[in-house]
Amino acid sequence: MTSQRVLAEDERGRFAVLSGSGGKMPLLGLGTWVPPGVSMSDLASAVQHAILNCGYRHLDCASVYKNEDVIGGVLENVFASGVGREELWLTSKLWCTAMMPDEVRPACVDTLKNLRVSYLDLYLIHWPACLRKGHAWPPRPEDFLHVPGIEGTWREMEKLVEDGLVKNIGVSNFSSVKLENLWRVARIKPAVNQVELHPLLQQSKLREYCSFRGIHVSAYSPLGGNDHRARPPEIPNVITLPSVVRIGRKYNKTAAQIVLRWATQLGVSVVPKSTNHGRVLENSQLFDFELDQDDLASISAEDRHLRTNASKMHNPFTGATEEAFWDHE
Ligand code: A2P
Repeated sequence: MTSQRVLAEDERGRFAVLSGSGGKMPLLGLGTWVPPGVSMSDLASAVQHAILNCGYRHLDCASVYKNEDVIGGVLENVFASGVGREELWLTSKLWCTAMMPDEVRPACVDTLKNLRVSYLDLYLIHWPACLRKGHAWPPRPEDFLHVPGIEGTWREMEKLVEDGLVKNIGVSNFSSVKLENLWRVARIKPAVNQVELHPLLQQSKLREYCSFRGIHVSAYSPLGGNDHRARPPEIPNVITLPSVVRIGRKYNKTAAQIVLRWATQLGVSVVPKSTNHGRVLENSQLFDFELDQDDLASISAEDRHLRTNASKMHNPFTGATEEAFWDHE
């Protein structure tokens, strides 16, 4: 299979075709990180609801979310209800404590065991940083370890593809500078870069670079990391931006649906998080309308280069300030 794969009429605008494998990644996925205080049973219920009642076919997981075993239990149920493994797109991520080459495969195997599946559709390097096991959060300067280049880690990611443990490999939280360094040494090219992306942080430069290289961009916190419990008051709320609310009225859609639709119309996949059944359903109702050029332009005008997820990953090895960590993008 190659990236020349063509989508059927009813798949256009709902899937991205990844370069390399030609895999079809659903543009809508459910983010599975939950804030402290949300119970694992609420998460399990939301994931099951998403798949069985709302048509989600993509879950965005990570070992550091410490809930992959819970999601594995849900997957067992949904497979028993007749959903085929090949119908689902499962993404997971290699945590920063397993960046040394000999740690990559065991970390992936752990994730597979927890999720109770034999392969992942996509495995991402979670951050371009290496942390000591038992690190604090946010990491202290002494928690960071120096990795002598990303090449050794990536070779092991490539072997996971060659050995059939994962179908596609990529990264998360990489600037275009770091991606280009990886690109130069990669035999299997990174297929995806997952980054924070929403109307207040549109990542235009990174999207341009990724489009040039044929790397799919996926958005975490596509609603602006809109967690009212944790958002500092100085950070505006993406889903109360007047332009977004006005556009919502025009299409009879909620502001959240407008923001998610805007991203998917840019070709970006979205993994909004929610454990509320109503909002999980709401976030899935994106494909029965289309924003016109004026509305897309109004939302594009909202960019403020505002990260709502402070990375906390700037460190002595990848840049001492947050701006340097992102290579000033
Ligand atoms: P909740 O779980 O109570 O629904 P992001 O994915 O951008 O990081 O945003 C996640 C946050 O947005 C969560 O706090 C989630 O809260 C909230 N959220 C998810 N969907 C919606 C929606 N449709 N409308 C309003 N808030 C939402």
